[in-house]
Amino acid sequence: MIKIRHADITEKYKTYEWLCLSDTAQMHMGEPDYPNNPIPSWEEFKEGFENFYYQEETRGKGSVMIIQDDGKDIGCLCYACFHLKPQKAELDIWLKGKEYCGNGNGTKALKALCDYLESSYNIKDYIIRPSIKNYRAVRAYEKVGFKKVQENEKEKTINEFLLPEFLNEYGDGDYGFEDTAVLIKTNLNAL
Ligand SMILES: CC(C)(COP(=O)(O)OP(=O)(O)OC[C@H]1O[C@@H](n2cnc3c(N)ncnc32)[C@H](O)[C@@H]1OP(=O)(O)O)[C@@H](O)C(=O)NCCC(=O)NCCS
Repeated sequence: MIKIRHADITEKYKTYEWLCLSDTAQMHMGEPDYPNNPIPSWEEFKEGFENFYYQEETRGKGSVMIIQDDGKDIGCLCYACFHLKPQKAELDIWLKGKEYCGNGNGTKALKALCDYLESSYNIKDYIIRPSIKNYRAVRAYEKVGFKKVQENEKEKTINEFLLPEFLNEYGDGDYGFEDTAVLIKTNLNAL
């Protein structure tokens, strides 16, 4: 049974370990497959994932969440809204070990996250941006209802989601514009 809950600040290092030091890190970051998205050090992670991701008062801006399977921690979700237009959220996910992948856990957790964000924050549109080479992640997101944006529509979609003042910093995505896939789930997808 998959459940999700907000992480608190005492869990920040643990979520770094799962993201960067676990055997799933190389599935989406660093050499050999993702040289343009190096694995962050603890110092870099601490800065990138600012403390607001772990604090109750700022959950409207974004948050890191823990995925639990029958009460056992198996990975993380992250959502961020601060850089996006209203009623939109950018999502990310990483399971803490390969043994937890490929069993449907990721898709269940993402569905739970979208339900939670819609009911708690009235979020209607979601964006997620894996590497174009992360076939497992792309497939998992499609199972949740995300649709991959065509190459020639990517820029337009980014402009529709991001606030103009954040385009420079976040417009290209973690893998660079060309190597980042853009997937969205919107109310329109459901029509
Ligand atoms: C990405 C991730 C969250 C997905 O969660 P998951 O629980 O493994 O995903 P699921 O088991 O629900 O679904 C995976 C799907 O990908 C498919 N798949 C696996 N490897 C694949 C590959 N190389 N090519 C295509 N599809 C693949 C599986 O068959 C499954 O689809 P199916 O149910 O239709 O058979 C998880 O694998 C993970 O944490 N990976 C490491 C971190 C990461 O890459 N995060 C994404 C950053 S954007």
